[in-house]
Amino acid sequence: MSIRPRYDVAVVGEIYVDHVFSGFPVWPQPGEEVVTDAYVREMGGGAAATACGLAKLGRAVTLVGLVGSDDHDWFARGLARYGVAVDGLAIGDGATGTTISVSTADDRSFFTHVGVNRQVGALATGAGLAILAQARHVHFAMPLARDVADAVLPPLAAAGIRTSLDMGYQPAWLADPANLPTLRAIDHLMPNEKEAELLCGHADPVAYFVHATAIGLRHPMLKLGARGAAALEGDRIVTTAPPAVIAVDATGAGDAFDAGFIDALLDDASPLQRLQRGCITGALSTRRPGALAAIPDRNELRSIHDRTY
Ligand SMILES: Nc1ncnc2c1ncn2[C@@H]1O[C@H](COP(=O)(O)OP(=O)(O)OP(=O)(O)O)[C@@H](O)[C@H]1O
Ligand SMILES: [Mg+2]
Repeated sequence: MSIRPRYDVAVVGEIYVDHVFSGFPVWPQPGEEVVTDAYVREMGGGAAATACGLAKLGRAVTLVGLVGSDDHDWFARGLARYGVAVDGLAIGDGATGTTISVSTADDRSFFTHVGVNRQVGALATGAGLAILAQARHVHFAMPLARDVADAVLPPLAAAGIRTSLDMGYQPAWLADPANLPTLRAIDHLMPNEKEAELLCGHADPVAYFVHATAIGLRHPMLKLGARGAAALEGDRIVTTAPPAVIAVDATGAGDAFDAGFIDALLDDASPLQRLQRGCITGALSTRRPGALAAIPDRNELRSIHDRTY
């Protein structure tokens, strides 16, 4: 007997509240104060951004992650506005992951408290696993610890659920040979250029694909920033450039790319088409500050696709 999956995608990983301060004329010296009227508080973290991106494309999405008790209702309302289910949004023991982003016209700095995101591995192997198992595809937006991977990936594979991983810029995780079985077990690893270089030791995409094949990655691809993205299709490298945009802020472009790429996977699209869809959602997300404000809906995705490719 097969049960119809409840969700197209379950996204599991880190959730942050982002406090974004901008418009400062100068950087303060230690002990000084500077003031701005330009401030927004928004949902952040790769898991929240990719989940919202997929929901905006019309997919049935649930987000498995943790926030602090004070912020739970704010996140539940915010996610519901995008149409993301919150049955997997747990209250952790401590404060919500928090990032303070401060920018002048030329520079930006981040201050981060990881907070209850440290408990996401325990959530994924505990109460969260039953929710992950209700999806067609599970996307991990976190450095997937070895013990968590061991507990979670085999049951998902046995249920025929496809997986993807965007661990983010995690030099220690990428350099640790203990994570090699995880890299091999994931269906779609989604590194950017810097992460691919940490994995293979070379900055060159061709070298990455040679290395990725040698270590047994299933469907090698990589994101190339403003240059687009590349993937292996059989033994050929296919590449795609993003549509033309006026990029004002690339924060979260990688997470938005992941949403488009996974959306294409759900349609069993070809490697080239996955890259195209990822490049559209990634590039369009750069049009406005923040990760979420400018991600496209399904209609915009279609019209940009037809105009570009
Ligand atoms: N400046 C840009 N102009 C146009 N498209 C962009 C730009 N930056 C990123 N993109 C699009 O977003 C995709 C993902 O960007 P990138 O390779 O920077 O991912 P990332 O480094 O994982 O991002 P993040 O910093 O969010 O983790 C690219 O493949 C591209 O399609
Ligand atoms: Mg990234």
